[in-house]
Amino acid sequence: MTTKLISGSEVARQIREELKGETARLKERGVVPGLVTILVGDDPGSVSYVTAKQKAAKEIGFHSVQENLPAAIGEAELLAMIDRYNRDPRIHGILVQLPLPKHINETKVLYAIDPNKDVDGFHPMNVGKMMIGEAAFLPCTPAGIQQLLIRSGVKIEGAEVVVVGRSNLVGKPIAAILMQKQPGANATVTLCHTGTRDMASHTRRADILIVAAGKPNAITPDMVKEGAVVIDVGVNRIGTTAEGKAKLCGDVDFAGVLNCCSLITPVPGGVGPMTITMLMENTVKAAKLAAGLE
Ligand code: GUN
Repeated sequence: MTTKLISGSEVARQIREELKGETARLKERGVVPGLVTILVGDDPGSVSYVTAKQKAAKEIGFHSVQENLPAAIGEAELLAMIDRYNRDPRIHGILVQLPLPKHINETKVLYAIDPNKDVDGFHPMNVGKMMIGEAAFLPCTPAGIQQLLIRSGVKIEGAEVVVVGRSNLVGKPIAAILMQKQPGANATVTLCHTGTRDMASHTRRADILIVAAGKPNAITPDMVKEGAVVIDVGVNRIGTTAEGKAKLCGDVDFAGVLNCCSLITPVPGGVGPMTITMLMENTVKAAKLAAGLE
């Protein structure tokens, strides 16, 4: 049974080891990749993501800075902080954790980040480059999904890929990435969303089913083709464990779908660790670009 699991934790560990080596080599040339993570407020989900990102950055050997701003901070102050880091040569990557409090214009904040330091890949310049297959920084979750598929030996070229969910964070970019005429892509991609008629008729055709619907049990076994590869991007908080940690589940009926799929990512331990790892990879890339090494 466990042979069906795609361990994002294990693939992430391998990539982080590679990045550790690359960072050590960069340091010998006087380049220390620098990452700042900016957290506004104290949403528990955001706190836990940012903590994990900082931990990974330190383990790999980055110069890492954590900024914690109160939820009531003004938009102008946040923009001023971003401007400071845009001009700071020790910082190669700037990450503002989303979502932001309602009184701050998220679009304005994302536009303010120097596209060359946009390690999240959210700036419209980088989104546009991704669409034409010239991305410098791919958004981390979709990039992590592509890496998981490639490193698990899943054939993407020519595959029927069905994506459920059209968010700017996951659904739209993973569809754009996997349809590129490039190695590790070149798939036939269908994107389903809340306006889709007869969702199951689409999902049942998928060789690779990528689910980012934001809802537990959005995908049940009757919606999955025998032998499909299932990537569950959902992170739903469904209570707390005995140790007081958040209890998570994905968007897929895991126990049910396990019986018919060939491979599936668990939640937690699937896509999540890959998102953080791709942020680290983007930061190394940003440092190399800034140093003229790429
Ligand atoms: N919130 C949820 N996912 C992400 C992410 O990948 N990057 C940022 N900045 N915020 C997020």
